[in-house]
Amino acid sequence: MQALRAGEVVAFPTETVYGLGGNAQHAGAVQKIYALKERPAAHPLIVHLDSARFLHRWARDVPEAAAKLAEKFWPGPLTLVLPRAPTVLDLVTGGQDSVAIRVPAHPMAQQLLRAFGGGVAAPSANRFGHVSPTRAEHVREEFGEALRVVLDGGECQVGLESTIVSCLEGEVRLLRPGLISLAQLRRELGDAVGTATPSAPRVPGSAEAHYAPSTPLRLVADGQIERLVAELSRGGKRIGVLAQRSPLGSFRHVTWVNAGTRLDHYMHDLYANLRTLDRAGTCCLLVQDVPKDERWDAVRDRLTRAAAATPAEFGDLP
Ligand code: TXA
Ligand code: MG
Repeated sequence: MQALRAGEVVAFPTETVYGLGGNAQHAGAVQKIYALKERPAAHPLIVHLDSARFLHRWARDVPEAAAKLAEKFWPGPLTLVLPRAPTVLDLVTGGQDSVAIRVPAHPMAQQLLRAFGGGVAAPSANRFGHVSPTRAEHVREEFGEALRVVLDGGECQVGLESTIVSCLEGEVRLLRPGLISLAQLRRELGDAVGTATPSAPRVPGSAEAHYAPSTPLRLVADGQIERLVAELSRGGKRIGVLAQRSPLGSFRHVTWVNAGTRLDHYMHDLYANLRTLDRAGTCCLLVQDVPKDERWDAVRDRLTRAAAATPAEFGDLP
């Protein structure tokens, strides 16, 4: 808290992923966040608040739909994009006329935000383009000594970044899927909730290659995994597999993670699993395609982006 006051940057846990936070009204602090993350400065940040009590200091207008969602889902894994108040720094909004706001539920985040009183600008606490951290040790892996304060709140309960919904110009749009699904949003607001369009506000997560481990990754159909493992590992190369079941048969050169079929567990473990497989010395990761149903949208979204970051040489699977 002292550190935030002094314009320092602090990593803290939220129920989604760890954040790299700084005083949202302090340009120096926000610049430090960009510098640490090595993130391009035009990518806007989420402002974290302890509750909706000072929301009007950040948003010049809170449409009825936004107020409804805030009432229902805050504190929780939901970010609302609203028309910005004039005093919000351009560095935070990326110069846009909107600002992203979230009220996290994690007790340690709540404690920090309440004691601080103001808004904390915080992206996920990973270097630009990397997998988000869901444990304090992941944050250490990302930044090492470059980051002085990391608050350790254990494992993040949700494990995937918040659902982002924009409420601008009378339209409600889902910009980034998360634990809170499109169906849940529609239950609150009706079918008028749309999804992102090419002209929708910028979400760098929506740049194709994002959330990527450093090992090339491919999504593969359930029935193809064993055949591909056998063929790819023929020369003694180690293959990583993230599946929802155990392997059929035994393979010598495979690190196989069975993430199970329960969505909440799968989400909770996804980034930690990708980090584990990344470290296992594998030449490529095969990820079993996840179920098509809408509840899995958020997971599918992250996996598809991770696969999109894979260089083309890995494109030709046998
Ligand atoms: O769960 C989360 O949201 C985590 C935790 C730490 O709160 N934070 C997070 O931050 O995922 P970050 O920076 O990795 O992703 C925030 C996303 C970005 O894709 C950014 O473009 C989008 O929010 N965003 C921020 N302000 C926006 C705005 N005004 N309009 C549209 N998108 C915005
Ligand atoms: Mg991020």
